[in-house]
Amino acid sequence: MTATLPGMSTDEKLRFEDLPERLLDWYALSARDLPWRIGPAERAQGVKADPYRVWMAEIMLQQTTVPHATRYYQAFTRRWPTVEALAAAADEDVMAAWAGLGYYARARNLLKCAREVAERGSWPHTVEALRTLPGIGAYTAGAVGALAFGRRAAAVDGNVDRVFARLLAAKGEWKAEKARIKEMVEMLVPADRPAEFAEALMDLGATVCTPKRPDCLICPLRELCAGAGEGDPARYPIKPKKAAKPVRRGHVYALFNDQGEVLTERRPNKGLLGGMLGLPGSDWIVDTRPEPSPPSGENWQDIGEVRHVFTHFSLELTVWRGQGSIGDHWTPRSTAADALPSVFAKALKLAVK
Ligand code: ADE
Repeated sequence: MTATLPGMSTDEKLRFEDLPERLLDWYALSARDLPWRIGPAERAQGVKADPYRVWMAEIMLQQTTVPHATRYYQAFTRRWPTVEALAAAADEDVMAAWAGLGYYARARNLLKCAREVAERGSWPHTVEALRTLPGIGAYTAGAVGALAFGRRAAAVDGNVDRVFARLLAAKGEWKAEKARIKEMVEMLVPADRPAEFAEALMDLGATVCTPKRPDCLICPLRELCAGAGEGDPARYPIKPKKAAKPVRRGHVYALFNDQGEVLTERRPNKGLLGGMLGLPGSDWIVDTRPEPSPPSGENWQDIGEVRHVFTHFSLELTVWRGQGSIGDHWTPRSTAADALPSVFAKALKLAVK
């Protein structure tokens, strides 16, 4: 094994030589049972995971916890059991089913990717070819390549970065450390068990080498870990401080008609919450709050505020409720409650209270 690890120092080669074996032995006893995974018995028979399901799970799990993503995964795969079924779905049905999961570009790319795969007639089998599909970056291509096609590929996400930052006690500039980690993980992937190796690292990061309180006492890599050796592994990874998020402010209007429907709009495909159903409202502006300018209606009342945190800013919206009948996109309240992204769903909830 040592000879196959050219990018590491001699010390690291020796230290990490038996990392894959330790990790896989631990995984054999500790694997999480997740719906997109195949079990050990199937794997022993050479069964590979379904690329459609693996891909769906990986896209949903980006920036999302396993329990939250699992609910959506179940709903999506029940409703659209194959990539062809998803490719044939109406855009607005997929966007509505994604509501509440956030990062809506993922849903738009999900559809684009499904349509491209359905058009091609099959999934590409290599990491390089997977990367050319919409919404599939290095991480997802590695994960799908390893999990569904048995490619010798690494799936390095934030969890894996954390595990290796601790193993290495990585003190350098974070971007450079990440590059080093990626290279190292790629070298460590065992050619005969890439899928289990990828899943094992995910599980170690999620259940043992957790962000705040790593459970080093049960860690199979404890003896290899420079961070644990120093006594404070949780200080790693050492990342640059994030800038404070700016606050944007604006207004959102919940206009109800006599049928109990609410006025909605389809947001443009480009931009934040693109392609999702929305409520009418003002622009969202830094520092000041724009003047209210509600659509045609009566009895407009300011009924409070909702807040929501996006990746690059926090949002405070004043919620207005009114009655009216002018408008061309009315949606029953309960449909809107399910189909609106979280920030608008919060506003609607406040407005119907
Ligand atoms: N996080 C990202 N991908 C995952 C997967 N396939 N299983 C569990 N957690 C994950």
